[in-house]
Amino acid sequence: MDTIYITGGRPLSGTLAVQGSKNAVLPILAATAAIPGRFVLSNCPAIRDAAVTRSLLEHLGLRITEADTCLIVDSRGPIRAVPEAALACQLRSSALLLGALLARLGEAEISLPGGCVLGQRPLDYHLDALERLGVKIRRENGRLLCKGRPRSGTVIFPYPSVGTTENLMLAALGANGPVRLIGAAREPEIRDLAVFLTACGAKITGAGTPCIRIEPAPLHGAAHRILPDRMEAATWLCAAAATGGTLTLTDLIPDQLRAVLQVLRLAGCEITEADAELTVRAGPLHAPGAVVTGPYPAFPTDAQAPVMAALLRASGSTLFRETVFSDRFRHVPALCAMGAQIETAGDLASVRGVPALHGAEVSATDLRGAAATVIAALAAEDESIIHDARHLDRGYSYFPERLRQLGAEVHAE
Ligand code: EPU
Repeated sequence: MDTIYITGGRPLSGTLAVQGSKNAVLPILAATAAIPGRFVLSNCPAIRDAAVTRSLLEHLGLRITEADTCLIVDSRGPIRAVPEAALACQLRSSALLLGALLARLGEAEISLPGGCVLGQRPLDYHLDALERLGVKIRRENGRLLCKGRPRSGTVIFPYPSVGTTENLMLAALGANGPVRLIGAAREPEIRDLAVFLTACGAKITGAGTPCIRIEPAPLHGAAHRILPDRMEAATWLCAAAATGGTLTLTDLIPDQLRAVLQVLRLAGCEITEADAELTVRAGPLHAPGAVVTGPYPAFPTDAQAPVMAALLRASGSTLFRETVFSDRFRHVPALCAMGAQIETAGDLASVRGVPALHGAEVSATDLRGAAATVIAALAAEDESIIHDARHLDRGYSYFPERLRQLGAEVHAE
């Protein structure tokens, strides 16, 4: 999808089942390279980042077939230690193959990974932690040459980095004794990785807390259902909130959206929760106060742009503080082109609600920024044209189709 055309002004309404989580399926796919076995992964989202990860794994020698939302992975044959550079540089999570390959082969050679540009995204936490477990790492022409099976030990993280936690959980599978991770990330996707690895025979305790312990154990294939995507859910909630719609989401875990729900409720949305279901009813909104992003369970950085878009017409001012990434207000110029009043300074963005937005021709900058731009266009009074809409394909399956299902006037090329 290159360009998306949206005629705004229609409240989004209806019922939608949430897709499987992007940020859960990517580390779980990487994990299948660490363990020789046959894996059946259900509820996989049809997104580009998962497709690129699949190609990376196939290039390493894994055999993968798909049926509906299931990926069936066979990693029992021999595998290579060098992921294809042209694929690895397309997504950040390719770095997780480091941990997986070190666990299985005791070596890995990987090109520096890509992903959305959200400011500096170094790998120093990953590499320092692996070095602390005895892995030897050399940097050569944009590649990382890593050797040595990780050894038993304790790693203290300087920051609860999601990717570092996942990479070290994978590397620890091949260690010669227990590995303790202190100061680990607590995101639900870490828990889901641990649930999957436990089904594969791994002995893991503490996932979802700052202290995770992994002990050596015989590993094998397993079946696993990927967690629902809390960020896709947040995006749809924001689209309904921005357009004054009524939307029911099914197949999700409301508790994992606590911080986002709190902000939307403070803004005036009526939200009811059931077991695996949420309904949002939105009318005129007001500013909920300050929104500060942070590691889970704080307000998620991935929801910052969509929530900002939802609040562009809320009465009063909302202050956003982005503490996770250094450059995550890249969607702001596109929102301002539609009439939004936003001022940014460093890690702060101040949104002053306006009575109405108008359509504009703009470009998307990154995955969640693209979602925010679409949300603003849905709330605007006439047609918007959003270029570089391909960012959406990274993380949202059947995005234009699902928007149309909820009553939006959208077409994509
Ligand atoms: N950081 C470092 N050095 C490192 C690793 C991270 O300085 O070695 C910094 C990052 O630059 C960033 C902060 O630490 O400023 C947090 O990074 P983290 O490692 O936690 O994030 P990530 O693993 O790169 C995952 C998600 C992101 C999500 C963040 C935070 C995946 C594939 N990506 O990224 O998702 O924003 O955690 O929750 O799981 C998205 O879905 O749109 C997305 C960007």
